[in-house]
Amino acid sequence: MNFMKITGKIDEIRAQVKAWKKEGLSVGFVPTMGYLHEGHQSLIARAVKENDRVVVSIFVNPMQFGPTEDLASYPRDLDRDSALCEATGAHMIFHPEPEEMYAPDFCSYVDMSVLTEELCGLSRPVHFRGVCTVVTKLFNIACPDRAYFGQKDAQQLAIITRMVRDLNMDVEVIGCPIVREDDGLAKSSRNTYLTPTERKAALVLSKAINFGESLVKDGETDCKKIIAAMTELIESEPLAKIDYIKIVDALSMEQIPTIDRPILCAMAVYIGNTRLIDNFTTNL
Ligand code: PAJ
Repeated sequence: MNFMKITGKIDEIRAQVKAWKKEGLSVGFVPTMGYLHEGHQSLIARAVKENDRVVVSIFVNPMQFGPTEDLASYPRDLDRDSALCEATGAHMIFHPEPEEMYAPDFCSYVDMSVLTEELCGLSRPVHFRGVCTVVTKLFNIACPDRAYFGQKDAQQLAIITRMVRDLNMDVEVIGCPIVREDDGLAKSSRNTYLTPTERKAALVLSKAINFGESLVKDGETDCKKIIAAMTELIESEPLAKIDYIKIVDALSMEQIPTIDRPILCAMAVYIGNTRLIDNFTTNL
């Protein structure tokens, strides 16, 4: 059994990672906001498989939440999260308080253009600046060889991959497949907000994703037609309200009219007050 450590101190993570590196051990890193489920666990398990040591961060990052978003109500359960990390083979949890991460006079940000100006970037204007800034800080703190991100947040994965390339960060970004509930709903910490009736209605997201993917597989290349068909399916569910459904270039995140390259088809849909996301990608 591996004895996992938990710390909220940047210095302690730094010292531990330095010691591991001195021994020649590789370090994998899984950044999360906690309330862990099998989606997060798949990232941790992969990191454990591919690295000698694994650090998981659990930090509900205030900077990536807009003023009307769910920062205060975001679910938290450190005891359960710790048990899951330990059982999956992680070696250390970094769980800082916001004050450890952000000095009162904090004023340095990592900002990205183009890729952040589509999809979730439109409805969540401060979100990706907060994500890029915190992930940069976490990379500087944990100095990992490899970092693991889920395809569930496909735009985030594309943005982090681009940030690492553009800013020459010395870390390999590894994307991992979406983990779903048995009935198809993509696992998410936010699924806990759903009432039983909403939980049933939420299935419309994965149904629309499957439908869109099957149209593409059958050779449909007209993005308008695919989006119209998916929209109709979602609108058949009275509790669902579409934020967006779009097909974009998988690398640039720019909308395209025809499927003639690797694409990301992504959606955000409100089920009641809960905003859920899902997506599929294709390689031609
Ligand atoms: P969080 O939403 O906790 O997600 C942490 C990681 O788990 C992300 O890379 C996300 O894509 C992945 N993940 C979540 N649900 C998944 C699922 N069903 N299948 C596969 N992977 C899944 O994303 C964040 O936190 C934050 O923005 C963070 C990167 C930690 C920065 O604060």
